[in-house]
Amino acid sequence: MSEFTNPNLEPLFTAEQIQARIAELGAQIARDYEGRNPLLVGVLKGAVLFLSDLLRATDLRLGVEFMAISSYGASMRSSGEVRILKDLDVAIEGRDILVVEDIVDTGLTLSYLLSNLRARGARTVKLAALLDKWERREREVPIDYLGFRIPDAFVVGYGLDYAERYRNLPYIAVIKDPAA
Ligand code: IMP
Ligand code: MG
Repeated sequence: MSEFTNPNLEPLFTAEQIQARIAELGAQIARDYEGRNPLLVGVLKGAVLFLSDLLRATDLRLGVEFMAISSYGASMRSSGEVRILKDLDVAIEGRDILVVEDIVDTGLTLSYLLSNLRARGARTVKLAALLDKWERREREVPIDYLGFRIPDAFVVGYGLDYAERYRNLPYIAVIKDPAA
């Protein structure tokens, strides 16, 4: 049985739409950072597919690092506290940091991460996010490079998971029945 054509999935953005948008973002990033040497920081695991395609669309001298973070339990989410599971391996003082994330939902995770990176003395800290579930925002998070705004629905594919499933879909879909 095919995972990619699972009837519980309602396609939202095709692989072609995603690549076309990423080509635009990469060109914009290359223009904005011309003559600099930014460090792209991918947030594991959801942003891995977006990061790998964005890298190839960005004709620029740059570096890549990864972080893994996890939100605390539901009761603590309002505090915006997140735990760093894997930190950067390098100092970022004076560097131009571009965080690459799959989706901004409430904004709690990103608002913590961005201020954490700023506190380390980075020269600039900007954000590239593939998806913006803007209706659910609790913390203001400026997205410097955005793929698509989406409605308040649970989406999977292209790195995004539902209980670790569906990260391998080449496209982005809404789950019709999460319980199925
Ligand atoms: P925030 O702190 O509420 O903005 O949470 C962001 C994180 O929640 C993302 O990095 C995703 O890991 C996860 N997330 C939020 N919405 C979705 C979704 O629709 N599908 C899959 N993961 C999601
Ligand atoms: Mg994530």
